[in-house]
Amino acid sequence: MVRVVRATQVEIEAAVQALRDGELVAFPTETVYGLGANAQNPAAVRKIFEAKGRPSNHPVIVHLDSPRYLHRWVREVPQTAMSLAERFWPGPLTMVMPRAANVHDVVTGGQDTVAIRVPSHPMAQQLLTAFGGGIAAPSANRFGRLSPTRAEHVREELGERVKVILDGGECQIGLESTIIAFQGQSVRLLRPGAITAAQIRQVIGELLIGADVESPRVPGGTPSHYAPVTPMTIVPSGEIDARAEALSEGGRRVAVLAQRLPLKGHKYVTWINAGRRPEQYGHDLYANLRTLDKAGCQRILVQDVPEGERWTAIRDRLLRAAASVSESDDSGAMAVLP
Ligand code: TXA
Ligand code: MG
Repeated sequence: MVRVVRATQVEIEAAVQALRDGELVAFPTETVYGLGANAQNPAAVRKIFEAKGRPSNHPVIVHLDSPRYLHRWVREVPQTAMSLAERFWPGPLTMVMPRAANVHDVVTGGQDTVAIRVPSHPMAQQLLTAFGGGIAAPSANRFGRLSPTRAEHVREELGERVKVILDGGECQIGLESTIIAFQGQSVRLLRPGAITAAQIRQVIGELLIGADVESPRVPGGTPSHYAPVTPMTIVPSGEIDARAEALSEGGRRVAVLAQRLPLKGHKYVTWINAGRRPEQYGHDLYANLRTLDKAGCQRILVQDVPEGERWTAIRDRLLRAAASVSESDDSGAMAVLP
């Protein structure tokens, strides 16, 4: 079945009106759903932080429909950024660059940089073009929780707080964009995503990996992000069946995210086979973790994913989700570290 991903004129008009009125609009992108506000209205952007329960000094990405208005947001666009924009925009790449003077502090977290992305999802494009300005948008989830990859995830988590939710179906990629930052002559990868380090190097040559002390803050870079509520552990690939069996002994319910079927049926184990293809695995990851999170289990065991660049972004999100819960707590209670 072909999924219709374009919004009707009426839906787009309602969303644009909401943005002009300083309200929040959730919209699909090819990565995850965004929680959008008019980036030029600081009071509207503040509503994003309230709705998410996110600390107000965290910067948000400004979404544009094309690079043509980049200079309104960015003081100096590095030549390498132009090359990357030509190659990867619209698409899942976010570039952190020196901010223009009129960009509000609430968007940049008071930093001297602004993060820009041009998403490719047709409905995001429709919205941005009709709005005609920048839309500030983090992922449309409560702070520290899993990013939404379907409109229903947004409804579940933020429902009443959002004026309009545009439903564009399942996000094609399912993992947040690749983030890079320009610092002097160097370019750094701050968050891995569907566009890989190798692809970026093909365009610009050198790319440093990870933040250093000089790098702009990326709160999404702290371990407490992208987490289910149920404690989660990554298990060496070959041990997944044995660990699930051992943990479920005595009737404890255990959830498993694996890349194959179980060797045999386990009575108390909820098992998802997410497959061996990184694109499909990434597309389904957050929805799968949501499903397992709701399965009433004491722990989620994740079968470790293969090495290799196509798994880098997935591995990154899994490590963050696992790191955010206390290893010592097997009770199944809320175990998210502060
Ligand atoms: O795929 C995505 O990037 C999605 C969709 C909606 O575009 N957005 C997203 O936003 O993941 P968010 O806020 O959940 O993650 C964006 C990350 C945050 O960790 C934020 O701190 C960082 O980008 N960021 C935003 N502006 C920044 C800046 N000026 N300097 C450094 N990091 C920045
Ligand atoms: Mg987020």
